[in-house]
Amino acid sequence: MEVIVHDAYEDMCKTAARVVAKALNRKPNAVLGLATGSTPLGLYQELVRMHRDEGLDFSQVTTFNLDEYVGLDRTHPQSYHYFMRENLFKHINIPKQNTYIPSGTTDNYEAFCQWYEQRIKECGGIDLQVLGIGSDGHIAFNEPSSSLGSRTRIKTLAKQTIDDNARFFDSAEEVPIYAITMGVGTILEAREIILLANGEKKADAVAGAVEGPVACMNTASALQLHPRTMFLVDRPAASKLKMLDYYEWVQTKMVNAP
Ligand code: PGA
Repeated sequence: MEVIVHDAYEDMCKTAARVVAKALNRKPNAVLGLATGSTPLGLYQELVRMHRDEGLDFSQVTTFNLDEYVGLDRTHPQSYHYFMRENLFKHINIPKQNTYIPSGTTDNYEAFCQWYEQRIKECGGIDLQVLGIGSDGHIAFNEPSSSLGSRTRIKTLAKQTIDDNARFFDSAEEVPIYAITMGVGTILEAREIILLANGEKKADAVAGAVEGPVACMNTASALQLHPRTMFLVDRPAASKLKMLDYYEWVQTKMVNAP
C-alpha cells in the first residue's frame, strides 16, 4: 500500500487525475469505478480540464459508480446520477450508455444488484477504482459492520453518515436512510485502487484504514488486502498516521529504487 501525502487538496487531485490519465493512455477503453461526494470534485474538475486542454479521450471509457441513494430519482439534485452528470459526464466525451450508476428507483433491488455485478464482469472488471472515505471509515456506503466480502446490495446508512451528508440537504431528516452500494468484495476486485482523503475530519478514518487492523468497523481497512492501492491524502487527513515520516521518506527514495 502506498501513501502519498500532499500539501494541498489541489495537488492531491492533480495526482489522482494523472493516475486516471495514465490508466486511459495505457488502455483507452478502460473501465473506471467512480465515487461521488466533496472529495473527488477537484479530481473531476482536473479531468474536465485535461479533456478540454489536452484532449484526454473518454470516448471508449466505461464507468461504474459506487452507489446511489434509494428513493432519489436521477433528476434529484442530491442524487448521484445528477452529481455525475453535472460534475463530469456532461463536460467530457463519454458515451452516455457507457456510464453505469446504481438505480435508486428500481422496483426490484435484488435483481438490479445482481445485474450490476454481472454488468461489471461483462465489461471486463474495473481497471481503476476511485474511492473517498467516510469519517466512519466507510468506502462507498459500506458502513461499519459491513461484511468485507459483501457485494452490491442495499445498505442502511449509519447515523454518522446521515449527519455528515446532511450538509447537502435542507435537514438531516431529508437524507435518505438507504443506499444501493457496491460491496467491499466488489471493490476489492478492481485491478488498481486510489483512495482520496482530505481534511482533519478524515484523519482517524485514514489512520484506521492504513494502520489499524483489517476490521469491518473501518471497511477501508480491507484495502490492506489489495495489492495495488494508493492512498492520496492531504496533510490534515494524514495527521494521525503513526508512520507518516516513513511514507514521506519512501516517496523521496522511490525515484531511485532498483
Ligand atoms: P465526502 O464523502 O467526499 O463528501 O467527504 C466521502 C465518502 O463518504 O465516501
